[in-house]
Amino acid sequence: MNPWEELKEECLHCHRCNLAETRTHVVFGAGNPQAEVLFVGEGPGETEDQLGEPFVGRAGRLLDDMLSLIDLDRGSNIYIANMVKCRPPRNRDPLNVEQDACIHHLERQIRLIGPKIIVCLGRISALRLIRPDYRITQEHGQWTHRDGIFLTALYHPAALLRDPAKRPDTFVDLKGLQAKIREVCDRTYEAGAAR
Ligand code: URA
Repeated sequence: MNPWEELKEECLHCHRCNLAETRTHVVFGAGNPQAEVLFVGEGPGETEDQLGEPFVGRAGRLLDDMLSLIDLDRGSNIYIANMVKCRPPRNRDPLNVEQDACIHHLERQIRLIGPKIIVCLGRISALRLIRPDYRITQEHGQWTHRDGIFLTALYHPAALLRDPAKRPDTFVDLKGLQAKIREVCDRTYEAGAAR
């Protein structure tokens, strides 16, 4: 087994926190583990828990539409993971103790993927990956550079479903992401060039 498969196996059998008791499936992630752009959500919802895939409910469909606007596609040139790999009951925010138990899975995913860009989807992953006092309403779309990786955050697609007035801001942020990809990523990211 290669290190990626080993990590996946470990994750699928994880019992480091109480979410293991209520999950149906562990949601390890989806996409191309060689991608240069990694998206990190919060945690699986009901549909994701049932199917074992990230972002496959309503918010996921909106995410796929947003990605296609800038020629990104989970089937080819990005990877999508979550802060926690198991569904928090009733879709509550993952507790700090659950995030602490799970973060090493994400850290290992990040090391193995080696992304040039990490896009946090929503405040939960931005608080962990960008800064503990991150304010998504004020800082979405801004860039930080740390350990050779460019980081930014977008509003979570579920927030865009609840509040469509946030969508124009996200469109601008997506254009900023596209510009950053052109600046730092491989030419395979140019329009239409699937990897
Ligand atoms: N919301 C998330 O943050 N992640 C998912 O996988 C689904 C919904």
